[in-house]
Amino acid sequence: MGKIKILGIESSCDETGIAVYDAENGIVAHELYSQVKLHQDYGGVVPELASRDHVRKIIPLIDRAMRHANCQPHDISAIAYTQGPGLIGALLVGATVGKSIAMAWDKPAIGVHHLEGHLLAPMLEEKHPEFPFLALLVSGGHTMLVDVKALGEYEIIGESIDDAAGEAFDKTAKIMGLDYPGGPLLAKLAEKGDGSESRFPRPMTDRPGLDFSFSGLKTFSANRVYAAGNDEQQLANIAEAFQDAVVDTLAIKCKRALKQTGHNRLVVAGGVSANTNLRAQLAVLMKKLGGEVYYPCHEYCTDNGAMIAYAGYCHYVKQVSDQNLGVSVHPRWPLSEAIPN
Ligand code: KG4
Ligand code: ZN
Repeated sequence: MGKIKILGIESSCDETGIAVYDAENGIVAHELYSQVKLHQDYGGVVPELASRDHVRKIIPLIDRAMRHANCQPHDISAIAYTQGPGLIGALLVGATVGKSIAMAWDKPAIGVHHLEGHLLAPMLEEKHPEFPFLALLVSGGHTMLVDVKALGEYEIIGESIDDAAGEAFDKTAKIMGLDYPGGPLLAKLAEKGDGSESRFPRPMTDRPGLDFSFSGLKTFSANRVYAAGNDEQQLANIAEAFQDAVVDTLAIKCKRALKQTGHNRLVVAGGVSANTNLRAQLAVLMKKLGGEVYYPCHEYCTDNGAMIAYAGYCHYVKQVSDQNLGVSVHPRWPLSEAIPN
């Protein structure tokens, strides 16, 4: 195969991400437009507004990425787009544009699973893992432990039975009066905590198994917030205790899953993997176990086009592409079935 360049399109939620992955030089263009401001007044993502904004931004961003990558359509080998899971309207924008460009440029289109994108994002770093490994996927929509046996072989061995970790961060932050998305803001507030808040529960750690549950912890925190009123220091202490509980719970389950699978490589991906305390605690854990932990760089922790371009590249070299002309998206799509179309 000659020089491979993959155009990646991400539009599953509130970020329009476009990137070009070059097999020789890595990511050579990366454009990201975040809709955070658009949704902030509503305290969460409004699906219809998200779709409309993707429509506005997607073509100019593709244009810019192609210019930055110094690429003409004939230089591109395939177009990868997020096929699911996500918001149906938002997904349809990326899928329609991706497949239309593929048809116009006479290139293959590759539908990518959004979580596979997150999972493979650390492969773009200089320090990247070999297969197999354990992956902790922690985003606004998902919390799962995945036994990654090989490319495309993903076994989910634990997941949240209710709120995702990022969702619990966001909802607790909202109760505290912080803006959307509150995860990073809550983490910042937690830095001001003085450690005087009592210990919050570590849900589902007192029984065997690898599943998570964060909605009870969110309610527990809400009650502490109501009791604290407007006391700034107390709110910071609650943020600290909440973050400690989530981070500890994730670390306990990672330790269990590493023991169960026998892996000594851990990949942490998804928006919550940006959390500094989580990184610190997992570094201690992996040092103790004599293993290694791998992360995407900060830019590729949250939703982005680079991870989709890279996952698309992995499928392209295996000659998996989407031949039909129809546009189909999978708003709900199990990761264990992450084979395009
Ligand atoms: O992966 P992502 O960009 O989108 C989804 O696919 O969900 O993850 C976004 C989530 C949000 O819930 C956000 O609050 C959370 O990641 N997040 C954080 C931090 N940075 C982002 N949560 C805790 N601490 C952070 N530093
Ligand atoms: Zn995501």
